[in-house]
Amino acid sequence: MMVSVVSTNGDGNSSFVLLTQRNNHMKTQARGSEIRMLLSVIILFAGALLAQAADKKGGPSPASCVACHEKQTPGIVTDWRISRHSQVDVGCADCHGDGHQSTNDVARVKIPTPDTCAECHEQQVTQFKNGKHALAWAAMKAMPTIHWQPMAMIDGMKGCGGCHKIGLKSEQEIKDLKKSGGGFGLASCDACHTRHTFSVKEARQPQACETCHMGFDHPQWEMYSGSKHGVRSNLKQMGLIATNAVAPTCQACHMNQGHHDVDTPWGFLAVRLPLPEDKQWAADRVTILQALGVLDPEGKPTARLDVVKAARVAKLTQEDWQKERDAMLSTCNECHSGNFAKEQLAQGDNMIKESDHLMAEAIRVVAGLYQDGSLKKPANYVSAFPDLLTFHDAPTVIEQKLFVMYLEHRMRAFQGTFHANPDYALWYGWSEMQRDLTEIKALAAELKNPAKK
Ligand code: HEC
Ligand code: HEC
Ligand code: HEC
Ligand code: HEC
Ligand code: HEC
Ligand code: HEC
Ligand code: HEC
Ligand code: HEC
Repeated sequence: MMVSVVSTNGDGNSSFVLLTQRNNHMKTQARGSEIRMLLSVIILFAGALLAQAADKKGGPSPASCVACHEKQTPGIVTDWRISRHSQVDVGCADCHGDGHQSTNDVARVKIPTPDTCAECHEQQVTQFKNGKHALAWAAMKAMPTIHWQPMAMIDGMKGCGGCHKIGLKSEQEIKDLKKSGGGFGLASCDACHTRHTFSVKEARQPQACETCHMGFDHPQWEMYSGSKHGVRSNLKQMGLIATNAVAPTCQACHMNQGHHDVDTPWGFLAVRLPLPEDKQWAADRVTILQALGVLDPEGKPTARLDVVKAARVAKLTQEDWQKERDAMLSTCNECHSGNFAKEQLAQGDNMIKESDHLMAEAIRVVAGLYQDGSLKKPANYVSAFPDLLTFHDAPTVIEQKLFVMYLEHRMRAFQGTFHANPDYALWYGWSEMQRDLTEIKALAAELKNPAKK
């Protein structure tokens, strides 16, 4: 089996076409027409095989689904024929059931969930359920202003929902989703090996993570692609350096040995317990925890802490994060010395510490405005204290600045350090944080003393 990357559009747009094929080599620069011709040969051949297979099996023959869907949704049938599934006789009905057999009973079709895949891939599903991806839907739903977002952005699987659909949904949530829309986006397992090729080779490429791990608050794709790790991996994909030259992919570091239970020591928000020994850092982290609403302004745990625990948004014991860190170090050690690796990761920790200091100072400035009455407690806030988790719905310009400083710039400062991308760490991260802090101070001065403006 092989995969060719073809970028041949006449209009200059490069497109990414995955072609999986047995015992046949294809030139990387093949033209669209040649591909179509080859495909039709494969389809004819596969069709003949399939008819034979269907004849042998009793019950709802995959051929009936295929014969009709060849006209209804030809692209899906093409992809399924390319897949390993079609080679091993896993047909449409194995995932979609046989309740729907004609054009007028489409509503009886089954839309697969990870439990459908678990019938044959128990190991991957069990691992997946233990990892952070499984919690993505719950973590999104736990955000305090989630109900303020347009429906399309959440249950409509666009925006937040478009990425967080990778998470598991409860039976009740699935029922509700079906009532409110089409009820698609329930499969989770099609996030990296997409339907209907379900290709393991596709899933092993870093591009499999790109659609979700990019952009505003988690540009891992951009950071990685520009890092030496990503550049080498890209040169390998293009066939310009030896295919056995080492270059870690996202999967090598985060799904080592194919483990489907992704998790990281710091996590997205980069706050954890126990508090660090360094007194300044500990104080700064407490301020951030207050602005996340998990500690109240007096420093006592709030109800939101339970939500954070349930969705595993922060690690709460050293044991919990140390084992992830040790595993990461041994991955680095496959190519780097232990000393080199320890040093790199320690610098990542240091960037979190430095960033926390700027962040905490900015939070204290805005908290001061609530305390002296320059800002009034918003009706939906529990306390008169800034709330980073209100995101873009924060009620004032100064608080939105604070949100951007936290979710965009602090993220880039440390994520860029961990992902070996100096430009993200400095210019898109640390430097922006400095500018945010200056602006926040200036805005605060105006709010305290509007007359002097
Ligand atoms: C006689 C034709 C016919 C047969 C046979 C058939 N389908 Fe369909 N199927 C359709 C049509 C028509 C649609 C709706 C397509 C559309 O909206 O474009 C559909 C839709 C679907 C959908 C998408 C459901 C949705 O809500 O959009 C799935 C999944 C599906 N079929 C699977 C199957 C499976 C599995 C079988 C065999 C057990 C099968 N089909 C047999 C005609 C057929
Ligand atoms: C290995 C499992 C599996 C097999 C086999 C399978 N499907 Fe699907 N199919 C899925 C998954 C997963 C989805 C996405 C469901 C979602 O969005 O929640 C899907 C979605 C669909 C959809 C609706 C979404 C879209 O993109 O239009 C159609 C139509 C469909 N399948 C048809 C087929 C047909 C026809 C076959 C056989 C040629 C087939 N499927 C075989 C797993 C499978
Ligand atoms: C009825 C059993 C069955 C179901 C249901 C099923 N699979 Fe498979 N799947 C298989 C078999 C068998 C293979 C081939 C294993 C092998 O190559 O040894 C396979 C292979 C795969 C592969 C490896 C493909 C490759 O390129 O080598 C992936 C990925 C995969 N399945 C994902 C899924 C997902 C995701 C679902 C659910 C949407 C699913 N499967 C549902 C039986 C199933
Ligand atoms: C975050 C991306 C991602 C998600 C989500 C994902 N997979 Fe995978 N999957 C991979 C990668 C990467 C591999 C290849 C691992 C390796 O190199 O051995 C893989 C491999 C597989 C294989 C082939 C295993 C083998 O040894 O041949 C199966 C089967 C599979 N996945 C099923 C699933 C199922 C079922 C789900 C849903 C619970 C799922 N995957 C969700 C990335 C993913
Ligand atoms: C060389 C190994 C390596 C590669 C390659 C790599 N990462 Fe990471 N990743 C790390 C390390 C180290 C951390 C921070 C670990 C910690 O929390 O201590 C991290 C953290 C993360 C996090 C948590 C938030 C953050 O950024 O700190 C996510 C999500 C993530 N990586 C996704 C990806 C994706 C997606 C790719 C590919 C585009 C990728 N990583 C490539 C090593 C790697
Ligand atoms: C469909 C979107 C999607 C795809 C594709 C995807 N992820 Fe994720 N990933 C998410 C979301 C959403 C989260 C946050 C889940 C949570 O923590 O609740 C996440 C979390 C993670 C984390 C845990 C970060 C932490 O907080 O500790 C890692 C590591 C990760 N992803 C790696 C990967 C890798 C590697 C790939 C590609 C092989 C990948 N992801 C593909 C959406 C995706
Ligand atoms: C482009 C895809 C994408 C969009 C859009 C998106 N997210 Fe995320 N989200 C992710 C990824 C990927 C992660 C994990 C990032 C990391 O660990 O660095 C994540 C992490 C999170 C986390 C932290 C989970 C944890 O356990 O640490 C929350 C909460 C969250 N997102 C909520 C939302 C909300 C609410 C929205 C919409 C306002 C949203 N996300 C929009 C992909 C997305
Ligand atoms: C699969 C092999 C491989 C793995 C695993 C790997 N790296 Fe690398 N790394 C490389 C290669 C190759 C380079 C490019 C060497 C150069 O720049 O001369 C590199 C470069 C780097 C660089 C930038 C160049 C430099 O010397 O400053 C850093 C930082 C780095 N790696 C850190 C890590 C960390 C941290 C981990 C584990 C989280 C890790 N790497 C895992 C292969 C790997």
